[in-house]
Amino acid sequence: MVCIRTATCEDLLHMQQANLKSLPENYQFKYYLYHLLSWPQLLQVAEDASGRIVGYVLAKMEEETGPGESHGHITSLAVNRTSRKVGLATRLMMSAHDSMDEVFQAPFVSLHVRVTNKAAIHLYKNILRYDVHDVEEKYYADGENAYDMRKHFRKKKERGGAGGGGEKRPAPG
Ligand SMILES: CC(C)(COP(=O)(O)OP(=O)(O)OC[C@H]1O[C@@H](n2cnc3c(N)ncnc32)[C@H](O)[C@@H]1OP(=O)(O)O)[C@@H](O)C(=O)NCCC(=O)NCCS
Repeated sequence: MVCIRTATCEDLLHMQQANLKSLPENYQFKYYLYHLLSWPQLLQVAEDASGRIVGYVLAKMEEETGPGESHGHITSLAVNRTSRKVGLATRLMMSAHDSMDEVFQAPFVSLHVRVTNKAAIHLYKNILRYDVHDVEEKYYADGENAYDMRKHFRKKKERGGAGGGGEKRPAPG
């Protein structure tokens, strides 16, 4: 049984380790700390029965043009190899979405993904219902292009109390 919960300060090193194992885009520890101090509700971890962190989502709010126009942004998402394909990334992302929508009233959430990252694109497009907003040429350090993807949250009155955004909810893993 793996639980999804909000990250604490003690989780940050484990999140950084999970990131180093899974992605070429890495960050200094202070960047994790900055996220936690600024938007504590948006950092989610997947913790297994033995207390090990096996996945995380690092997310933030970004100012569009001024106060009150801030939208959510997924900075980084990864699940350890041995814990993949059981719905953890879906659950982590849905948890971050719920906080962006409910705590920060974000109108939408954005992210970047490598155009060759089939697993992540499948997750974002088909499960979480993101759309491709733009293509950013040579976005990554190695020259690969990124899809700029976005998902709009339904407005409160359209939601009718049934959670946000038309995602395909997985059975708890
Ligand atoms: C992308 C990633 C986060 C997905 O994590 P996950 O926990 O395995 O994802 P889920 O189990 O929630 O799967 C969601 C969907 O993606 C599918 N999927 C996951 N990995 C896949 C793969 N390698 N190939 C094809 N589909 C895949 C799942 O089957 C599921 O779809 P389904 O319900 O139609 O079967 C994980 O593969 C990972 O950490 N990759 C390396 C880091 C990375 O690429 N992060 C994203 C950067 S933008």
